[in-house]
Amino acid sequence: MVRRSKITIVGAGMTGATTAHWCAAAELGDVVLFDVVEGLPQGKSLDLWEATPIAGADVRITGTCDWEATAGSDVVVITAGSPRKPGMSRRDLLAVNHRVVADVARRAVAVSPDAVFMVLTNPVDVMAYVVLRTTGLPPARVVGQAGVLDTTRFRAFVAGELNVSVQDVHALVLGGHGDSMVPLVRLCQVGGVPLTSLLPPESVERLVERTRNGGAEIVGLLKTASAFYAPGAALCEMLRAILRDQGRLLPAPAYLQGEYGLRGLYTGVPIILGAAGVRRVVEIPLEPDERAAFLRSAAEVRQAMAELPQES
Ligand code: 2OP
Repeated sequence: MVRRSKITIVGAGMTGATTAHWCAAAELGDVVLFDVVEGLPQGKSLDLWEATPIAGADVRITGTCDWEATAGSDVVVITAGSPRKPGMSRRDLLAVNHRVVADVARRAVAVSPDAVFMVLTNPVDVMAYVVLRTTGLPPARVVGQAGVLDTTRFRAFVAGELNVSVQDVHALVLGGHGDSMVPLVRLCQVGGVPLTSLLPPESVERLVERTRNGGAEIVGLLKTASAFYAPGAALCEMLRAILRDQGRLLPAPAYLQGEYGLRGLYTGVPIILGAAGVRRVVEIPLEPDERAAFLRSAAEVRQAMAELPQES
């Protein structure tokens, strides 16, 4: 008998609910939307479930404020916490969000000890570490989401600039999710053709800058919220890789244990993602300037980690 996958999404805010929407449309599995605000997850999930006949999606979407209802999940996605307001950096959120994230991770793992945990809450590289530390899970089963979002932004900007299909643009963004992220322009290709042979350096640099500021650009426009469509789509892409054991090579914050000469922190690197979580971190040769930017970015993550109290 085939059992449908169970996906718990913690946080029924814009990102959590939008992720549930993408997952339902992709028929990835049954979704449990959790939030502490009574009525919010129930109302949003009921609305979504009522849309499934039109979407032709045979999945159940339920909302709950009770951790028991999330028990036995295959994947737990953590979106809970505060988003950025204009003028705030992702790091400004650390003090507020680490307690929330540690608390939900503790409760979620108690009822879903076999789940893969995926973390979106910012600052994501640090929050993924908080989940690892709190749950005591093996590093393969705690992964962040950042690089897929940064990469999809870069791909959209490149496709828009060249007026070509987004499907043909492939790219890789490494490092922390923040202003120091490292888009590897050298490896960006459009239908197999290097981007650098299709656009002049100043245009490429403009698109890189826009990617770095991609989150802030949306916060600046929305004023009271941060992005949620593309972050939700990015989470859904990673969930598909796990639930269908695809073994996708994607950039994501993973726990480094000597790879790239780094140890004991999360930062964005290429990983192979499948049913067991992070199958492995892929080490790619970097040019000296890329390596320097990557190490600078990792150092920023380490500095932010130092602001965490011993126990969350
Ligand atoms: C972003 O880049 C929410 O950090 C997320 O939009």
